[in-house]
Amino acid sequence: MSEPTAGPTVAPFIAINNLRKSFALGGAVVHALAGVDLTIDAGTFHSIMGPSGSGKSTLLYLLGGLDRPTGGRIVVDGAALQDMDENALAAYRRQVVGFVFQSFNLISSLSAWENVAFPMRFTGVARRERRERAFALLERVGLADRRLHRPSELSGGQQQRVAIARSLVNEPRLILADEPTGNLDTASGQSIMELLSELHSDGRTVVVVTHDPRMAAYTTHQVFLLDGCTVSDEQYRAVTGLPPSAQVARPVAAPAS
Ligand SMILES: Nc1ncnc2c1ncn2[C@@H]1O[C@H](COP(=O)(O)OP(=O)(O)OP(=O)(O)O)[C@@H](O)[C@H]1O
Ligand SMILES: [Mg+2]
Repeated sequence: MSEPTAGPTVAPFIAINNLRKSFALGGAVVHALAGVDLTIDAGTFHSIMGPSGSGKSTLLYLLGGLDRPTGGRIVVDGAALQDMDENALAAYRRQVVGFVFQSFNLISSLSAWENVAFPMRFTGVARRERRERAFALLERVGLADRRLHRPSELSGGQQQRVAIARSLVNEPRLILADEPTGNLDTASGQSIMELLSELHSDGRTVVVVTHDPRMAAYTTHQVFLLDGCTVSDEQYRAVTGLPPSAQVARPVAAPAS
């Protein structure tokens, strides 16, 4: 077999350059992101770690087109988010991104399948097809037998699975999750990270914000933020006192009793 020849350089799926986001608070200005540079290749599973207030959610929201940068560039699949008008940004959110939040954000009066189908309500998809797609997605996340349950009748981990199924409804290439295991016990958090790993294995790019090094151990790449800037693994550990990532294992499932 011949050696592959060097082709043209392929742009990364996500390219972030000198990304800045400031908030004016009273007379003061908070620099939530103070010049972030980051590239994320398609099909990777990234975690963003950092102490409270370091800018993790801000970075994820900018990636998801939920907010706009104060400066710098954020290009996803060739599309420069900072240059998009509201319509283009809304289309980006709908077509490219699936967002998962710490607090699940389900509608309490709707069943699991209705929650999953909700984003399709305004897309002209007939109710019957919405239901079929929602059922298939609930099966995908292991909740086929819970599709008629309301959020209050589900465990936290199950509610997060419904939220993940909902995030998949428009077949996004990019899944963004902000502390998806933050409200869950270790075992439920572990199963959510396993589900996100599966979505990554299916070919999606997944970016998850987490405080927990054991959850970050599921990801293929770790990004560290301090005071709105990316820092190296060594710098991060020197400041936070955390052990090297190679020594942090995934939590081991408790044996069934
Ligand atoms: N809408 C806002 N208005 C003013 N300041 C904000 C706003 N959003 C974030 N900030 C500030 O920006 C900084 C970064 O916030 P961010 O929410 O990104 O942190 P985080 O790393 O996600 O923290 P946590 O782990 O607590 O969720 C913080 O100082 C925060 O107070
Ligand atoms: Mg946050």
